[in-house]
Amino acid sequence: MLKAQYMANVEASIGWTGPTTCVSGSTCTVNNAYYSQCLPGSSGGTTTTPTTTPVTGPTTTASAPTGSQTPDAGNPFLGHNIYLTPFYAAEVTAAAANLTGTTQTKALSVAKIPTFTWFDTVAKVPSLGTYLADASAQGKSSGTPMIVEIIVYDLPDRDCAAAASNGEFSIADNGQANYFNYIDQLVAQIKQFPDVRVIAIIEPDSLANLVTNLSVEKCANAQTTYLACVTYAIQQLNALGNVYSYLDAGHAGWLGWPANLSPAAQLFTSLYKNAGSPSFVRGLATNVANYNSFTTNSPDPITQGNPNYDELLYINALAPVLQSAGFPAHFIVDQGRSGVQNIRQQWGDWCNVKGAGFGTRPTTNTGVTLVDSIVWAKPGGECDGTSNTSAARYDYHCGLSDADQPAPEAGTWFQEYFVTLVNNANPSL
Ligand code: GLC
Repeated sequence: MLKAQYMANVEASIGWTGPTTCVSGSTCTVNNAYYSQCLPGSSGGTTTTPTTTPVTGPTTTASAPTGSQTPDAGNPFLGHNIYLTPFYAAEVTAAAANLTGTTQTKALSVAKIPTFTWFDTVAKVPSLGTYLADASAQGKSSGTPMIVEIIVYDLPDRDCAAAASNGEFSIADNGQANYFNYIDQLVAQIKQFPDVRVIAIIEPDSLANLVTNLSVEKCANAQTTYLACVTYAIQQLNALGNVYSYLDAGHAGWLGWPANLSPAAQLFTSLYKNAGSPSFVRGLATNVANYNSFTTNSPDPITQGNPNYDELLYINALAPVLQSAGFPAHFIVDQGRSGVQNIRQQWGDWCNVKGAGFGTRPTTNTGVTLVDSIVWAKPGGECDGTSNTSAARYDYHCGLSDADQPAPEAGTWFQEYFVTLVNNANPSL
């Protein structure tokens, strides 16, 4: 999936309060309502006003289910234990069986660390019922209610600006209806277990792609469908009364660039409000499947030029804009593979970055009220994308010199990468 498409020299047109002219030697090119880009060449100093309509969420909420329940005040991670999904535990256990000594012991400990489960195909949805039943039983026997952590990830024309994680549904072939059915199936499973709390990350990369990548034809064509699908997802999940959702918000090196903050805030806020300000939409998830640090005193050189060089700086810059626009968002931050810094050649490199290590363990002790929890969203050891140049889902990022190779298909097990994550874990396992 695409983990960063930023344009350092971007002049955003909506909500952007910075300079609206290009430096001498570059020309302003309008990409869409959000983006005008200063491209090198001829007459500098131009100012261009976009003519296209800003992106906002769908405005009809008439058929939206109205959730009758009120979310618990405060951090939804508190007062619960997190369910350990057998799927990831089985992957990790199988991987550890091929290892020996302390590496094996460390590897096995990963199976005990709460990690989100990705529902990246409709065929996987029935397994959610099994996990919820299991979690419900565990909650009853321990007396502490359980959380099941899921990632909703099956948009039609998924991963529109990259190739590695293209999904099973296509907009041209009934994609929106198929997606609604996928959501309905998730809802049907969750409905059976109101005593289990579900924490959901909604559609990694999708909204960030609508902020910065509408110049990519597939993203422009997917815009209306993405918005309708994400709106449907959050409304249906909201109505259940036991699902707390976080919309994926890219990361510091993507939407955290100053020119991208306002357009991002505008998109998130309009989507949220047009969906009826669903009370169980708790906020945003950042750094999902990426490698950025939560906080750092020594910024990675690749972040140069962006004052928001870590996730907390990005969050602290974005949150007040959301808040003042009517979206009182809280955050969760993926640190699953952020243990080692300064390993990328460019900030936009996202595919199986060499030398990565497991990072800070999931914790609600974030030191910041805005941040509900550090989480592990990407199951470390599952691949980001294949390095096989002849594969249909080959993305060039997976062939870069800082990408570990040979790499199998996205989502499948990448043993050598897992072992690196284990050995480089920081703190160590
Ligand atoms: C990638 C894959 C997806 C997988 C996810 C988590 O996005 O495309 O299939 O579920 O990573 O590993």
